Order: sequence, then structure tokens, then C-alpha cells
Amino acid sequence: MKALVTGAAGFVGSGISRRLLSEGHQVVGIDALTAYYAEALKRRNLQELESDSFTFHESDINEADLDTLLADVDMVYHQAGQPGVRSSWGQEFESYTRNNVLATQKLLEAAARNGKLRKFVYASSSSIYGDAERFPTTEGDLPQPVSPYGVTKLAGEHLVSLYGSNFGVPTISLRYFTVYGPGQRPDMAFTRFVQSALSDREIRIFGTGAQIRDFTYIDDVVEANILAGQADAARPGDVVNISGGSNISVNEVLDVLSGLVGHKLNVRYLERSHGDVFRTGGSSDRAAEVIGWTSRTSIESGLARQLEWAQRTIDVWSSLPENTV
Ligand code: UGA
Repeated sequence: MKALVTGAAGFVGSGISRRLLSEGHQVVGIDALTAYYAEALKRRNLQELESDSFTFHESDINEADLDTLLADVDMVYHQAGQPGVRSSWGQEFESYTRNNVLATQKLLEAAARNGKLRKFVYASSSSIYGDAERFPTTEGDLPQPVSPYGVTKLAGEHLVSLYGSNFGVPTISLRYFTVYGPGQRPDMAFTRFVQSALSDREIRIFGTGAQIRDFTYIDDVVEANILAGQADAARPGDVVNISGGSNISVNEVLDVLSGLVGHKLNVRYLERSHGDVFRTGGSSDRAAEVIGWTSRTSIESGLARQLEWAQRTIDVWSSLPENTV
């Protein structure tokens, strides 16, 4: 099997690529290596993928020859995008529309021309729900994003479904709920908390810390992609939540972390961030039904593994400027 993984140098994309390579598949990776966070971290992810079965294209999807890239590919795992909820306001919005909406449309056009594609898996996001109507939130609940980022992820998801229903592209969208674990992006909460705890820096909390997240462990998210790729029960345009089931507040996460590192944390509370939802919590019933997926990793063991990874890679991240996105 040959797969195209977009965003192959990123957190989730490199995890999916690693897994596919370990199972003996061919992987074509594409990534623009944008400046959103340190290129050194993305290069490091790519180094781990180096093998005869891995080909890499450093390119923006908007400029790539997608017909050639897709010519003999069986599967697409579309993970590329402009991430980050908090930085999607103002001028930055242009890169969110370009990388999350336009790039997705171009890839779907090429996918529609490639009749032999077995599955097109799209990385959607829990941010499409905004402040959800109820918990656990189901896929049928009204999407009402509260951040420009969420708006672009929802637009991308709608396009993915449209190419499924109109052109029979075998698409499925996975709504990821705050993915964490080894390799997590440096602008995200757990990476910042863990790195600050290890280097005795201040941990900055946006708001009261009472906000709740349904954090989902990276290996579980990779597994969801593999299952989605194989899911015969999925209909083109299907959408499923990939939610870890943690339902834990940011303050409670800090308690777990403090227990793991064995000392009190230096925490400062700042203003709440615009576009930050108060709570996410997804039902994973549909994921179980359509792709046979359930989360396996508890927040305690997942966070312990992320801490262990941060300790192991301290030489890499401590030499980089602190991420302030
Ligand atoms: C994350 C990802 O960044 C998005 O790309 C993804 O689409 C989204 O999850 C999703 O699930 O849809 P977020 O939930 O904001 O977004 O993830 P974190 O950066 O891990 O933040 C979790 C919580 O901690 C947020 O309330 C955030 O405001 C807070 N936080 C984050 C802090 O208090 N301090 C920090 O330094 C970082």
C-alpha cells in the first residue's frame, strides 16, 4: 500500500507516517515546513522517517503538482494545516484560509481525479463545535466555532464531505480532541507545562484553569487514522469524533503533573484567550460504530509518557527559543 501523508513533518502526520512505515507500507510525505514553530523540530521528525520506503516533498500543497503526487497512491491522510486556536485572529487569518481551506480544496480536486483512491482521511478538529450545546457532544450537534481557526477547519471538513457526496471520493473526517503525548507541538498546553516544570519556569494559564478538555493521546489518534483508512462501514463524507474521554480541567492536569515531577509548580494566571472554548467533551460512540475505535490511554499514563519524552529530548528543546505563540 502507498499512502500520501500531508503535514508529514508535523506532530500527528509524522506519527501516522512512522506507523505506516513500520507496517511495511510506502509513504510519500509532503510538508511546507512553515515557520509557525521551530523547523528544527520538524526536521527531527523527518529524520526518524528516513528509509527507502519514505519519499519527502518540501512543498506547499497549494503549489505542488498534486496529480503527480496522487498518481499511484492508495490512501491520503490529510494532516497538513495551519494549527493553533489562539493565533488565528487578525492578519494571521490569511494563512489559515490558505492552508486549511484552499489547500484542502485543491487536494480534494486531485483526489476526485484519482479514481483508485481507497480512502481520504481528513484531520478535523473539536474546535468546529465551539461552545457545544451538550456533553458528550455528538457528530449531529450543531457546529458553531468560536475561533477563526475553527471556522477554517469546519470549512475544510464541509469540503471533504462535499467531495464525498458529489464525486464519491471515499472521505472520512476525524474530529480530533486536543491531541497530546510525545512529539506534541510546542505551542500547546502540555508541552509548555512539562517544559516549564522541568526547567523551573513559570507556567502561564489562560483564564482560571477551570476550562475542561477531552485530551486524546497521540498513539490513539494514529490508531484512529489506521482504522479509518480500513473502515468499510464508512460512507463517503462520514464524520467521527476522536475523543480521549479525559474530561479534565487544566488545573487538574497541573495537579497530575505536579505529582509526576514531585514538586510544586510555579503557576501564573493570565487573561482568558479569545476563541478558547470553555469545555470540550466528545462522544466516541460513532467512532466505535463506524471505524471500531475507542481511546485506550488514560491522562495519567499519557502525561507520564509525555514527561518522559520531554526529559529525553531536553537537549533539543532547551536550545530553541521559548515558544510564545
Ligand atoms: C488544540 C490544538 O491546538 C488545535 O490545533 C486543535 O484543533 C484543538 O486542540 C482541538 O481539539 O480541536 P487547545 O484545546 O487550545 O487546541 O489545546 P491546548 O493548546 O493544549 O490548550 C488546552 C487548554 O490549555 C486551553 O484552554 C488553553 O487556553 C490552555 N493553555 C494552553 C494555557 O492555559 N496555557 C498555555 O500555555 C497553553
